[in-house]
Amino acid sequence: MIVASHPEHIRNHDVGYPYRQDSNLYYLTAFEEPESILVFRPGKTPETVMFVRRRDRERETWDGFRYGPEGVEKEFGIDRCYPIDEFEKVAPSLLAGVESLYYRLHKNPEADARVMSVVDKYRAEGGRTGRGLLAIHDADELLGEMRLIKSEEELVDLREACEISAQAHLAAMKFTRPGVTERQVQGVLAYNFYSKGSAREGYNYIVASGHSATTLHYNFNDQVCQDGDLLLIDAGAELNYYTGDITRTFPVNGRFTDEQGLVYEKVLKVQKQIVDFVKPGVVFKELHEMGASLLTDALLELGLLSGRKEDIMSANQHRRYYPHGIGHWLGMDVHDAGLYVKNNEPRPLEPNMCFTVEPGLYIPADDESVPKKFRGIGVRIEDNVRVTPNGCENMTSSVPKEISDLEKVVGTGWAP
Ligand code: GLY
Ligand code: MN
Ligand code: MN
Repeated sequence: MIVASHPEHIRNHDVGYPYRQDSNLYYLTAFEEPESILVFRPGKTPETVMFVRRRDRERETWDGFRYGPEGVEKEFGIDRCYPIDEFEKVAPSLLAGVESLYYRLHKNPEADARVMSVVDKYRAEGGRTGRGLLAIHDADELLGEMRLIKSEEELVDLREACEISAQAHLAAMKFTRPGVTERQVQGVLAYNFYSKGSAREGYNYIVASGHSATTLHYNFNDQVCQDGDLLLIDAGAELNYYTGDITRTFPVNGRFTDEQGLVYEKVLKVQKQIVDFVKPGVVFKELHEMGASLLTDALLELGLLSGRKEDIMSANQHRRYYPHGIGHWLGMDVHDAGLYVKNNEPRPLEPNMCFTVEPGLYIPADDESVPKKFRGIGVRIEDNVRVTPNGCENMTSSVPKEISDLEKVVGTGWAP
């Protein structure tokens, strides 16, 4: 197997921004530098080989410390390390006796070119054997299957990422009141993430007040939070490469209007029903279907849709107000690795799979088919769960979601 780092992103000719290692390479090595390649040869000697940047006094003055090949061998338990500029020379010999190669193409064009040239050189060095190219399989699929079931060590980090995220949401709720800006709320989240040891956010902050909450991936975050509006926050801290992914929705002034409360209670009920349904053996696709069905009931009860449920669902009318799925695997990446369908079958849940449960209803501000007071309301409630032998653990339960709890908390903290 060969796993490479991402290309280093450079915003302009010499100012970089923080580099994040490829999740798979970090999962296998805990090594964080760019321009690195791992060659893993199960059962062979050496079994683990890495190619990394050389030490370089001048570059280190500009960009910081590098381990160099010797340092990586010593500190990361890698059997043999070489400078990255020797990859094309050394790697062909590492393919000797190999029948198939696992590598994910098209993530890093520079690494692709290097790996392909090594495969080609290995074939050419075999002489006139008529040997073809090695069969190349997808390393990410293999690693995704490993990453999908979390180990106890991974769960320590994931739970902590969830708890840091939860506490930051609580601080953001306490901070919010009419007149604060979405960007200020984002700052409160970021401050809380970094203060608790998070190196970065797991994905772009969504701080969406008023009808911006109906835009699923809104992240302009440049409006003033208005009295009478809801605020939807979707944000997660990353800790040691594991990320939380929490959404809460609450009133800017601490009091739900009747219509906001009605929509909110429906989404909350569905969210709790689905979390309660999670256990080993349940098929993930069932959770999607349950979400769509229960939210369609909710839309009918609210009077936002009318007609026969079967007709509404077969015409996908509910998708106007609930256009996404119920959730996704969660781990090192917010939309984490792992197959949802295995051997052509939707896969059943197993202990220590982790995922989000995030139903929502979003009523467009210009939807003239619904009463005016419902227009522009967007509600999503998102928790992060781990499948246990009998049910699930909610890893984000410490951030309030009951209306009475939200109304007690919003606006009670530090004011700008
Ligand atoms: N925050 C992205 C998502 O919930 O999928
Ligand atoms: Mn989210
Ligand atoms: Mn999510």
